Amino acid sequence: MEVIKIAGGKKLSGTVTISGSKNSIVALIPAAILGTKPVTLYGVPNISDVGALSDILKILNVEVTHAGDMITINPTNIQEQPLVDDIVTKLRASYYFMGAMLARYGKVEIKMPGGCYLGPRPIDLHLKGFEALGAQVEYIKGSYVLKADKLVGSKIYLDIASVGATLNIMIAAVYAKGRTIIENAAKEPEIIDVATMLNKMGAQIRGVGTSIIIVDGVDELGGCIHDIIPDRIEAATYLTIAAANAEEVRVENVIPSHLEALIAKLTEIGIDLEIGADYIVVKRDFNKKLHPVEITTQPYPGFATDIQQPLTALLTQVDGMSGVTETIYAERFKHCNELNKLGAKTKTHSPSASIQGPTPLKGNVVTATDLRCGACLVVAGLLAEGVTEIHDIYHIDRGYDKLIEKLTNLGAEIWREKV
Ligand code: EPU
Repeated sequence: MEVIKIAGGKKLSGTVTISGSKNSIVALIPAAILGTKPVTLYGVPNISDVGALSDILKILNVEVTHAGDMITINPTNIQEQPLVDDIVTKLRASYYFMGAMLARYGKVEIKMPGGCYLGPRPIDLHLKGFEALGAQVEYIKGSYVLKADKLVGSKIYLDIASVGATLNIMIAAVYAKGRTIIENAAKEPEIIDVATMLNKMGAQIRGVGTSIIIVDGVDELGGCIHDIIPDRIEAATYLTIAAANAEEVRVENVIPSHLEALIAKLTEIGIDLEIGADYIVVKRDFNKKLHPVEITTQPYPGFATDIQQPLTALLTQVDGMSGVTETIYAERFKHCNELNKLGAKTKTHSPSASIQGPTPLKGNVVTATDLRCGACLVVAGLLAEGVTEIHDIYHIDRGYDKLIEKLTNLGAEIWREKV
């Protein structure tokens, strides 16, 4: 078993470059099978979710070529197959093959997708959307079986502005006859990225980034070349690491407007930021006290649920009591227990947690219970005196490209070890 070890307490400095967005690439790859020609993506992060999705493409006889941060997906010889291999359950985003296969073949059989356990994560809105487009949905022995003679455009109102449901319905609707209107759509930047790629391939999608998305069905899609947007959650993680541990760190390849809610909170905490067109410099004066904050997670452009976990580690260092309230995943607080093992004083009363600071952190053995809990423990391990040992790092590998290399370049003492 491999663990990550961090000898904390080192001050970091230098420049870190953010990779392409995990939550974009995991939808771009399934969407790329919709065309008749190859799709080439640049800025692909080297994370295990990309490996798992590439394995699923191989089941479908789709050719995948990797070279550095480039991937080419060639669906010319694609064959329709049931997606019932265990690999499907390794990540949640395999459910984008539901929309993609339904659009391409009018049928799909797929195992229930997995992913981080953040409390219940139903997919009822995805399924209702597919039904509205004309599909029949059955659940047989652990797999969803979706069938449609033909998909027809429809008006779909989402009860919750779900990222996954918005993307899956948008993908399914590209070949549907006529117009599909998704109301109360999610507005996350990753949705814009996927629509940009599909439109380059020949789709007719408008309104992304607003709460109403219009998809006019087309008969055929081709290929394209597409650059993935930078990962705003990875950027947020490094901004938080820098705020906690660095005198000055420059975070490059970011879109600052994707990070407005975090920037506002870091400023309120007392961190100085210099914001450029595609970079943010974090400056920390260790003589200045940090201020507590209240955070409530919201769909984009509100404060992202994925960011509250790493930020909680920083909140252990501010002067007073901070609070985090979850409106997306009421149970997304497992990182608080782990932080307490390092000496933090957090209390969870779902859907909220309180964090009493400042508390010195001390290295210990902790477990990454999910991906962003892992990110939180990396922030905390870098702060803690002594050695922190993080277990279940496969969660971290799902979403952080070259983590050890990037942090080592900033001066951190962090390594992987077999135990
Ligand atoms: N929901 C339903 N029914 C549905 C779909 C969602 O009730 O059919 C609920 C969820 O249970 C949740 C809320 O709606 O309470 C929002 O869920 P959403 O569908 O937006 O989340 P998701 O698409 O499953 C994506 C990201 C998550 C991120 C959330 C929220 C991907 C692959 N995952 O998940 O990212 O936390 O949006 O922004 O894009 C991560 O990167 O660590 C991660 C978990």
